Amino acid sequence: MNLHAVILAAGQGTRMRSSLPKVLHRVAGAPMLGHVLAAAHAAGAAHCHVVLGHGAQAVQAWLQTQDEPAVDVALQSQQLGTAHAVLQALPVIPDDAVVVVLYGDVPLITAPTLQRLAQAAATGLALVTATLDRPRGYGRILRNSDGCIGGIVEEKDASADQRAIREINAGLLAVPASRLRGWLAQIGNDNANGEYYLTDIVALAVRDGVEVSAVSADSVDEIEGVNDRAQLAAAERHFQQAQAGRLMADGLQLLDPQRFDLRGRLDFGRDVCVDVGCVFEGTVYLADNVSVGPYVVLRDVSISAGAQIKAHSVLESAVIGENCHIGPFARLRPGTRLAADVHVGNFVEIKNSTLATGAKAGHLAYVGDADVGARVNISAGVITCNYDGVNKHRTVIGDDAFIGSDSQLIAPVSVGERAYIAAGSTIARDAPGEVLTIARAREQRSLPNWRRPVKSDKKKP
Ligand code: UD1
Ligand code: CA
Repeated sequence: MNLHAVILAAGQGTRMRSSLPKVLHRVAGAPMLGHVLAAAHAAGAAHCHVVLGHGAQAVQAWLQTQDEPAVDVALQSQQLGTAHAVLQALPVIPDDAVVVVLYGDVPLITAPTLQRLAQAAATGLALVTATLDRPRGYGRILRNSDGCIGGIVEEKDASADQRAIREINAGLLAVPASRLRGWLAQIGNDNANGEYYLTDIVALAVRDGVEVSAVSADSVDEIEGVNDRAQLAAAERHFQQAQAGRLMADGLQLLDPQRFDLRGRLDFGRDVCVDVGCVFEGTVYLADNVSVGPYVVLRDVSISAGAQIKAHSVLESAVIGENCHIGPFARLRPGTRLAADVHVGNFVEIKNSTLATGAKAGHLAYVGDADVGARVNISAGVITCNYDGVNKHRTVIGDDAFIGSDSQLIAPVSVGERAYIAAGSTIARDAPGEVLTIARAREQRSLPNWRRPVKSDKKKP
């Protein structure tokens, strides 16, 4: 089947009250249009045509950043209705194609539903319909006495009896291109909105004796449209729930699937546990037995087996070795690479640095642009002064070195293997291995004649 998807995305999205075009609003970190394109591709659409109008430039700019198969863009400069929108894409669609019409603001549609829709169109016109308790706002499906679909009536044009119908038009349909071309040419705009309604092709199909079939989505969530921020939030929750369900089926332990957000891709090994409130972005990998504590944010990170990421840690573009302990309240910035058994404690920030096996930075430290050897101890309050206001410089610390509390390492600088830096030192030159280096402003003294200050008595004359 030569399947072409036409995605309608020209509408303004007034109710979003946003300067961003509606279809660029994000669900699970990706624009709604991206979700629809992905579903169309996964369903086997060889070509995707996006109809743009409001905000066309911004949407096109986004499309250009995608390395997905190229999409055709059709411009609809005036939004004269859904039939008029489809017409803009039609000139480049061959007659032997099956056309599936999708909406850029119905982001949760899935490939299996689209595949069934396309199959059903082989014999005529196929619609996605659903039966809703609250059908308000949707076009209603009109059925004849024999139960066959006879037409669609838009809510604005419907009688009170018709409004009581609970079977609705989801808006998505599939049809052979040759038929679509003929019918679109016959659609007028004599209705309450003065628009060219795509839904009018149903009555034309019935008139021409073409079978009209209804396909229902696997879940009604799939056909939910997003018109305002509340519906965007609802779509986000439905997407996250479905995703969490799939991950749990694959063996991921989520302590609460309602409090889990993945905006990208998560791969994982066996017996991985994720506590509540975590956010995963980009591409994340969690190997066997990794545990992720509550309220952790992971973006583009790879975490090796047995590592523990504790509460409120934020990791970005980092690689974590086996059995590392990170956090609580750790911040690992891009370029952090930790070998096995590294411990990073609370209020430690690491950036563009490697820490070799068994290194420790337990509390309140900044390690930037550094190469830290195996089993090095970085005590509380240590700072690598990596920036001179213009350039960044590296700090190199040899294996088994000990950096005492509240020391500053002024880069570029190196500390030798098994070196011992006394607490409170400001190290501006290379410190040799094996020995104690102490660099304080002044050596400590005790003054025997010193007297403790006394409180002044203001009443004394
Ligand atoms: C449409 C259907 C209705 C269905 C509902 C489902 C028609 C006439 N009605 O109504 O039966 O129940 O969707 O949500 O089709 N668009 C354009 N160009 C236009 C007009 C619309 O690109 O000129 C796009 C919009 O951006 C949107 C989609 O088409 O993504 C649907 O348009 P909208 O005006 O929201 O249609 P509804 O009135 O909701
Ligand atoms: Ca709509």
